[in-house]
Amino acid sequence: MQPSDNILSIEKLTVQFRSGGRWITAVQDVNLDLADRECLGIVGESGSGKSVTALTVLGLHPPKSTRIASGRIRYQGRDLLTLPPRALGRIRGAEIAMIFQDPMSSLNPVLTIGDQIGETLRIHQGLGADDAQKKAVELLDMVRIPDARRRVAEYPHRLSGGMRQRVMIAMAIACRPKILIADEPTTALDVTVQAQILNLLRELRRELGMSVILISHDMGVISEFTDKIAVMYAGQVVEDAVGAGLFEQPMHPYTDGLLRAIPDIDSDTARLATIPGSIPDPGRPPEGCRFHPRCPEAVPTCRQTAPAMIRLSEQRQTRCPPRAARRSA
Ligand SMILES: Nc1ncnc2c1ncn2[C@@H]1O[C@H](COP(=O)(O)OP(=O)(O)O)[C@@H](O)[C@H]1O
Ligand SMILES: [Mg+2]
Repeated sequence: MQPSDNILSIEKLTVQFRSGGRWITAVQDVNLDLADRECLGIVGESGSGKSVTALTVLGLHPPKSTRIASGRIRYQGRDLLTLPPRALGRIRGAEIAMIFQDPMSSLNPVLTIGDQIGETLRIHQGLGADDAQKKAVELLDMVRIPDARRRVAEYPHRLSGGMRQRVMIAMAIACRPKILIADEPTTALDVTVQAQILNLLRELRRELGMSVILISHDMGVISEFTDKIAVMYAGQVVEDAVGAGLFEQPMHPYTDGLLRAIPDIDSDTARLATIPGSIPDPGRPPEGCRFHPRCPEAVPTCRQTAPAMIRLSEQRQTRCPPRAARRSA
């Protein structure tokens, strides 16, 4: 795909944080492309660098303790990483909007729903108070909150978790963004509500013609939604795929592990297969392949050589040389 086809391109992004007097690499050499109206899924266990990547797009890291060691984030011909803060501020929330990981603490308890949605509209679109309230009601309708006219005057504590997440989505789409980044939008919700929120996102994406980046630790959520998937582990993309090939033939043992962890809804007694071990401390990543200490298929070279991304086809890339070799054999 030519770069010009993409609305957003993250190229070789490396993000570091200062910790205990040195720089720790949280995200390394990440490449991601998002085409117009496409949905990209980013999946990986907690701590793999998904949120750090997303927050970098919007320039939301604490500047003093953060270093972008390399990379570019191209959006409409510009590099968001070198944009002056004011210019980035005009894009953030308006053209690129985000639903943050923790909806419960992202709403202000002392402001009504209408005032909070209205704030975005006043800042970015210069609407007056009355128009902002009117538009807030429309937005609550759009996210299928029943009785929007009454709900607009309520405070967040009156709403269920699912309803609060709908309010967060209403705020995110208030300015009709071109790109919506949804960071674990259903993680705090029970399964039925999760499905409703994913459906809503799917419908809004179509209605508004948005591109979406959906972030989740849950392969089940990602599998239902996305056109394209990037699997992250310990700060790196270890495999990516366009289409459903990743589910049919995962090319990285870590992806296998995530797929085995999808709950089977047909058997309530089945135990979830979890990947043994845990994600490494970003301050001390293992030598060689970062996944090798947990990998059931590791061979001696995996302990020594850090694997580069290998392109298998137009649709597929992986950082697992043994599997790539088997496939081409
Ligand atoms: N502001 C920060 N300062 C220092 N370390 C951070 C900061 N934000 C995230 N990290 C670290 O970066 C790593 C990746 O975190 P994150 O992107 O939040 O993971 P996730 O994939 O769960 O979203 C973690 O080890 C986390 O502790
Ligand atoms: Mg996160």
